[in-house]
Order: sequence, then structure tokens, then C-alpha cells
Amino acid sequence: MRVAVLTSGGDAPGMNGVIRTIAVAGIARGWDVVGVRRGYDGLLRGDVIPLPFDVVDGITRIGGTILGSARCAAFGRPEGRAEAVAQIRRLGIDALVVVGGNGSLTGAHLLAADRPCRIVGLPASIDNDIGHCGLAIGVDTAVNTIVEACDRISDTARAHRRAFIVEVMGRHCGFLAMRAGIAAEADAILYSERQPSEDELVDRLRTVLRRCLGPEGRHKRALIIKAEGVAVSTARLVERLQQHLHEDAPGVDIRPTILGHVVRGGNPSAMDRLVGQRLGYGAVLAVDAGLHDVMLGWDVPELVGRETADPYIRAVPLADVLAETRRLLDGTSPLVRKRIELLRQVEDLLAL
Ligand code: F6P
Repeated sequence: MRVAVLTSGGDAPGMNGVIRTIAVAGIARGWDVVGVRRGYDGLLRGDVIPLPFDVVDGITRIGGTILGSARCAAFGRPEGRAEAVAQIRRLGIDALVVVGGNGSLTGAHLLAADRPCRIVGLPASIDNDIGHCGLAIGVDTAVNTIVEACDRISDTARAHRRAFIVEVMGRHCGFLAMRAGIAAEADAILYSERQPSEDELVDRLRTVLRRCLGPEGRHKRALIIKAEGVAVSTARLVERLQQHLHEDAPGVDIRPTILGHVVRGGNPSAMDRLVGQRLGYGAVLAVDAGLHDVMLGWDVPELVGRETADPYIRAVPLADVLAETRRLLDGTSPLVRKRIELLRQVEDLLAL
């Protein structure tokens, strides 16, 4: 039995725990486990490496992915996938585990249609924008990184009684901003699922600044967490708010911080090591059981798909995962609606 694992798209802390677990559990079963380098890009070139124990030993605690990753445009085209099918057959691969986000799982589903081997997807994306998955690999670390950064910014902001807008990754999904914003005691959270006009946004933030740092305000700092998917740029917001600071919060300054790729790097949290390893083991069991064209979701909110040996993991057809992902991103998923509704209820309390 020859099993290949690849990591694709934006890397996520916890991917290495997946690779190690598949290698170790595979070796124990007498499988030949190989790693594909640089995602689908490497698959098209047949670029695989063996994963003996000494290669994967100690990698669980390391961020990024030892296999490398890539965003591969060629794989989106039928000719590209035909090349991948040919490579899988040439290399004698019986099962392929694809670890990645929305784009990578879409690729896995398209490839699965040609049935070159068994294909199992695992959700890994700091954005947490994957359907039928409560927590993707990498999200917990990213949230912790943002919260730590905000704590540091808050120290200096309090010393100077300043306001900050901190922009965080998440592509089209506001999950990271929402979760980290609550944990960091943000005074406002701007997320991409709601796109008010620039003027509405400025009006709302002016109110927040007045409440926090205006003449009657009791805050020592104002912290605004903004998801990168919000249409108005951070620089533009800061510029607009600065024009009114002399009326809203005299003597106060406002500064932007864009955390960018800092949010994606770093050693995985204990939670991401655990989720990555349990999903990795789940993938080995799924291959054993002959599952194909499925993703293993962690803590699946809707309880769809089929149960597995792990109470936190369900095997969901990739087609259903991708359909729910679309609903998450266009805001029609009941889960997103509930999330937004809850945040709306408490929004006014943030900047009390
Ligand atoms: O999907 C993960 C992610 O980090 C997003 O949050 C972000 O928008 C994007 O990838 C950045 O991608 P790249 O590193 O290719 O610029």
C-alpha cells in the first residue's frame, strides 16, 4: 500500500502534525508513506519524497509544512489534472491525503472524479472558512497569535491613550477577527460578512472612539479589530477617523497595524497539534476503510456525514463540504447567520 500526503494552499500551523501522524501510523501498518513536495505543483511533477520516521520525528511542534506548499493554477485546468492522474498511476499511489483549504479541497474533489486512487481531504486553513468543520487546522494558533499581538499593542496603546486599528488575515471570512476580537477585549470588530458603506463605517467608529476615549470616555485605549476582507482599507479608515479626532477624542492619536503573514506563522498551539494529529490518524483509518472523495471535519456543527472512531471527527462527502463552504462565504449558512446575530447582540457592550 502506497499512501501519499500533500499540503496545499496557504500553510497552516498543525500541518506537520498531520504529516507525522500519517507517516507513523502508516509505517506501523507496513505502508509506504510518501510526501508530495509543494502541493499540487509537486504532484504534477511527480515530486515525492519518502517519509521514514527520522524525517518526521519532532516536526509536530514546527509551524509551516516540511513538505512545502503552493497555489497551483495549472491544477485548476483539466489538462493539469490529467497530468496529476498520470503521475499518481506512474508512482503507484493507492491513496492520497490532501491537507488544505477551500481551493485545495476543490482540487481534491475534482481529482476524485477521475478515481486515480482513494482521496481523503483534511481541513487546514487559518481562515476557518471550510464548510462542515467547526475548527480547521491552524485556526487556534492564528487566534492565539492575534490575541498576543493585540495584548502587546494594548500595552503601548494604554501607555499613550491611543486608538489602534489592527487588521488580521481571514480572506473573505471574519471568523479570526470575531474570535480574536472578543478574546482581546476589542472595542469594535469589523468583519467581512457585513459590508456597510465607508461613511457608515466611519460613523460607527467615530461613536466607538467617542465612547472609549472622548471627554467622557473611561477607556485607556481603543482597539478596533478589522478583518482583511472589509472593503474599506485600513489606511483609508485611519485617515478618515483622524480628520475628526479633534472633536471625537481631543489629544488622542490613531494608528494602524496590519498583522499580515505574522498570523499564519509560528509553532502550532497544543490544540492545533492535537487536531492535526487526530485528523491525521482519522485519515489513516479512512484510507483503511476505503473511503473516497470525503473530508474529515473536526467538531462538525451540523452533525452531517458519517461518524468515525473519533467522537470529534465526521467523514463528510467533499461535494457537501464545498457546497456548505460556498454558503459560509456568501453568508447564507445558518452558522454564519447565528454568529453574526450573536455578535450584533453584544456589539454595543464592547465599547461600553
Ligand atoms: O487562506 C489563508 C490566507 O492566509 C488568507 O488569510 C490570506 O488572505 C491569504 O491566505 C494570503 O495568501 P498569500 O500568502 O498567497 O498571499
